[in-house]
Amino acid sequence: MPRYRYLLGDARRERARLQHQAGIWDPKALALFDRLKIRRGSRVLEIGPGLGSLHKDLRRRVRGPVDVVEPSPAFADGVRALSRRDGFGDGQLWQCNLVDAPLPRNTYDLIFARWVFLFLPNPEAHVKKLVAALKPGGRLAIEDYCRWTLRMVPEPPEWENFLKADGAFFATQGGDVNIGARLPQIYAKAGLDVIDITPTTKYGRPGSREWDWLTTYFLGVMPQMATLRPFTPKQAAALRRHWLTAGKKKTSLLISPTVLDVVGRKKRR
Ligand SMILES: C[S@@+](CC[C@H](N)C(=O)[O-])C[C@H]1O[C@@H](n2cnc3c(N)ncnc32)[C@H](O)[C@@H]1O
Repeated sequence: MPRYRYLLGDARRERARLQHQAGIWDPKALALFDRLKIRRGSRVLEIGPGLGSLHKDLRRRVRGPVDVVEPSPAFADGVRALSRRDGFGDGQLWQCNLVDAPLPRNTYDLIFARWVFLFLPNPEAHVKKLVAALKPGGRLAIEDYCRWTLRMVPEPPEWENFLKADGAFFATQGGDVNIGARLPQIYAKAGLDVIDITPTTKYGRPGSREWDWLTTYFLGVMPQMATLRPFTPKQAAALRRHWLTAGKKKTSLLISPTVLDVVGRKKRR
């Protein structure tokens, strides 16, 4: 396996995409935080906060600093700027990949990650590392994809190969685009009791922000996906045309990948 490289980067266009995506999905994460009943003074770690909309909310709930692992210099700078603004103080920020972060043991009440695990090779080792960093009774909460609800209706002929290329794109860096569906078993093996699995699937018609979110992402990565067999450049071009035509019909439908909230609790011994 070549050295891990994060697939989506932190360029301006990706930051705009993340912001749009957060507008659609943050309410679901905030509902998860409500269910978790995060208390003032809790020790919390967030992995891969990106632009930090949820990081900001976690700090507000804790009324204090929240630790971070974030390899992107641009995203890490954003987190630092955010900490200066809200008056809750600086958390520990490891600016590196999770695999390299020297996390303390038995420390956190909660560790949270949204849309990070689908990129990571060897998710089992990453979960094990996070379990070691949790206090006994602490919780790991990951939001990630159970991918294959992703559909366009009516379905284009290229769709099945497109889905295979979507999986293959993440696999180029050892990731699993459907990781959410595997997390419960991975948690159990790492010594967590699974206490919540909550799904959310969205859909959108042309003109909706959900349609725009899925369209921007997939048309953006289509040239890379076109190189991943059995999908071909010809099929990618045909699907792109189909997608743009579907975008002009008000009855067209895009159904999103399902986001699973998977929460596990470390045994108290
Ligand atoms: C798709 S973005 C999601 C950002 C944010 N969690 C959100 O929900 O909007 C993936 C995030 O994971 C970070 N990331 C990528 N590889 C990572 C790794 N190996 N360890 C920790 N974070 C990683 C990226 O820099 C980015 O911040």
